[in-house]
Amino acid sequence: MALLTGSNKIKTAVFISGTGSNLKSLIKFSKLKKSPLSINLILSNNPKSKGLQYGKIFKIKTKIFDFKKQHVDEKKTLFELKKNRIDLICLAGFMKILSKTFINNFDGKILNIHPSLLPKFKGLNTHERAIRNKEKYSGCTVHFVNSKLDSGKIVLQDKVRINKNETPKTLAKKILAKEHKLYPKAILKVF
Ligand code: GAR
Repeated sequence: MALLTGSNKIKTAVFISGTGSNLKSLIKFSKLKKSPLSINLILSNNPKSKGLQYGKIFKIKTKIFDFKKQHVDEKKTLFELKKNRIDLICLAGFMKILSKTFINNFDGKILNIHPSLLPKFKGLNTHERAIRNKEKYSGCTVHFVNSKLDSGKIVLQDKVRINKNETPKTLAKKILAKEHKLYPKAILKVF
């Protein structure tokens, strides 16, 4: 992997819907010399996303499109991405499903982090389902986004053990801590 400096870094937009703890870990990673990317845009479909605070804290441009009229907001998003010369999108807790048209516009340039060991437990409520299914392990996956939900090429995974008294809440917490390390690691693997 060639090290990229300053303006040569891959211009990245991070899409969020909520807390933004993965966004925070990606921003911290982006400040490291070894990081191939810079984060130039934060986009949220939810004006109440706590993660939007990181835009202010780290002086990164933020955009909010509520995606109620998805087609219209995807067009606006693509316009923003072009305007800011974004090369890579990292989905980080973005809870909207992007359309095929949108994905085709950024083919091979969208990554996502998902809180399960894909291909197991695509979609929502992954922790509840892993516990109910009596899985021994769950974890997280970074993968490329294609037009099928949570089905693109897997980059990297990490796992945690599901204990006897595990609840969706305790499992989510354990997995989230793994996610914060996995996303940067996966980016280093790809670039
Ligand atoms: C993370 O666990 C992420 O894997 C998950 O939402 C959480 C966001 O947390 N994403 C999905 O479920 C996507 N389908 P964060 O806002 O603190 O990064």
